[in-house]
Amino acid sequence: MWENKDIKKILVSEEQIKVRAKELGEQITEDYRGRPEQLLLVALLRGSVPFLAELIKHIDLDIQVDFMDVSSYQGTKSTDIRIIKDLDTSIQGMNILLVEDIIDTGKTIKEVCRTLMNKGANEVRIVALLNKPEGRQVDVEADYNGFEIENEFVVGYGLDFNQRYRCLPYVGVLKEECYTVKE
Ligand code: IMP
Ligand code: MG
Repeated sequence: MWENKDIKKILVSEEQIKVRAKELGEQITEDYRGRPEQLLLVALLRGSVPFLAELIKHIDLDIQVDFMDVSSYQGTKSTDIRIIKDLDTSIQGMNILLVEDIIDTGKTIKEVCRTLMNKGANEVRIVALLNKPEGRQVDVEADYNGFEIENEFVVGYGLDFNQRYRCLPYVGVLKEECYTVKE
């Protein structure tokens, strides 16, 4: 694949993601089974889409899905969040499971959680494919975590650098020269 020349190393393989998504989906199914509130998965565009697609195959519940687009990053630098696309669903009284590609500083997800609780959600939980604990700047943790990774910039399986590399079927570390030259 042409992208490979820009990838320093593969951190999480496609097979590992499949296995983990199945485990998480089954855990979620068990945890929410029997709860009376409607469960709505809210996926944050665009990075979480491949993970959402894999995860929902393993959630054996009557779920709904909606999307939000929140921007938090310009290049590799964190900035304030901005809501680009809001939910189309009225979430009053619903249980929300936020689906995120990666939690780094935690600012994006914390802000989205606050917004959804303000809109009247019964509860908001988080499932994240990747977690970078060293990057954390605010107090927030996912309820369901795929993989813990070190504080490196990663791409693939939905994650991008300047909108590129989302289609890689694995999560990998981008070579420094691929982003430092543009900053
Ligand atoms: P946070 O607000 O710092 O937790 O940022 C989370 C968002 O930043 C994620 O949804 C990603 O879109 C983006 N992000 C954080 N780390 C990375 C990375 O290593 N590669 C690609 N995107 C990242
Ligand atoms: Mg994101």
